[in-house]
Amino acid sequence: RPILERDEKKKKVVEDIKAAKSIIVLTGAGLSTAAGIPDFRTPGTGLYDNLQKYKLNHPTDIFTLDYFLEKPHAFFELTKDFISKDYKPTSSHYFIKLLEDKSVLLRNYTQNIDGLEFKAGISRDKLVQCHGSYETATCVSCRKVYPNIDIVKKHLKPDNIKIPMCVSCKKGIVKPDVVFFNEDLPERYTNLSNVDFEKCDVLIVIGTSLKVSPVNVLPDKVPIGTTRVLINFEQAPLGSIQRNRTYPYDYYLNGDINETVFELCKELGWEEELEKLVSE
Ligand code: OAD
Ligand code: ZN
Repeated sequence: RPILERDEKKKKVVEDIKAAKSIIVLTGAGLSTAAGIPDFRTPGTGLYDNLQKYKLNHPTDIFTLDYFLEKPHAFFELTKDFISKDYKPTSSHYFIKLLEDKSVLLRNYTQNIDGLEFKAGISRDKLVQCHGSYETATCVSCRKVYPNIDIVKKHLKPDNIKIPMCVSCKKGIVKPDVVFFNEDLPERYTNLSNVDFEKCDVLIVIGTSLKVSPVNVLPDKVPIGTTRVLINFEQAPLGSIQRNRTYPYDYYLNGDINETVFELCKELGWEEELEKLVSE
């Protein structure tokens, strides 16, 4: 297979997006860095490089139930911004919304818990929040469900974090419904990923290192003839970890996400529509 220049790859991707009927967009923390939310694994700025004060054996311990039960302050301190700060969606979030408006978005699978997809207007029906969300919460002890995050919110003052306790059993911590390591992904993820990926004709992967399972094997669930596009600073391993298959239509577009998405929209003739969504 000849090695294509970036511009040639872009042209191929644009052709395939124009012909597509069922696009899946798989997103990660890189999508929201332009909104001011750090990702996890970028050296220096990523969250996992900035947890020294918690003295963890491994940075990802911060998102485990054992650590949470022992030191719940850390998790709330790190995530309180999601409910108190008013982050704005990036133009790439609006690109996904544009795909929905054009009736070609089959689904957006996001690993993010910032909820910026909704703020960009993406429908609930089109979104799978693979790692849960910060919208609802559950008691870790009696499993009482709190459909409204306000119970948690009122405990998290900027300079004073109180641990939200369950009003029912009075002994469990109320934990936002984000997925920790070793926890199951939401049922919606399992149900939909089992049927969506075989229908996908273009898969666009944006802003993820693809280091976390089971989401990182999703790219291998599309048919061999599917176009797979990666938009990211680094070349995350899209490929065939599980099934050892070779996909002939893989395109890696390196560089900044918003810049690349903008270049694609320009080629697609969608520039104005994107700008309209962003400014509305
Ligand atoms: P990572 O931090 O692992 O990866 C983000 C990727 O986005 C990296 O490859 C960056 O190079 C890239 N990136 C960041 N900003 C970019 C930009 N402006 N332009 C281009 N690329 C950019 O984040 P995720 O892959 O989303 O899960 O992490 C996956 C999961 O690990 C998270 O959902 C979270 C975490 O532990 C749980 O906590 C369960
Ligand atoms: Zn309880």
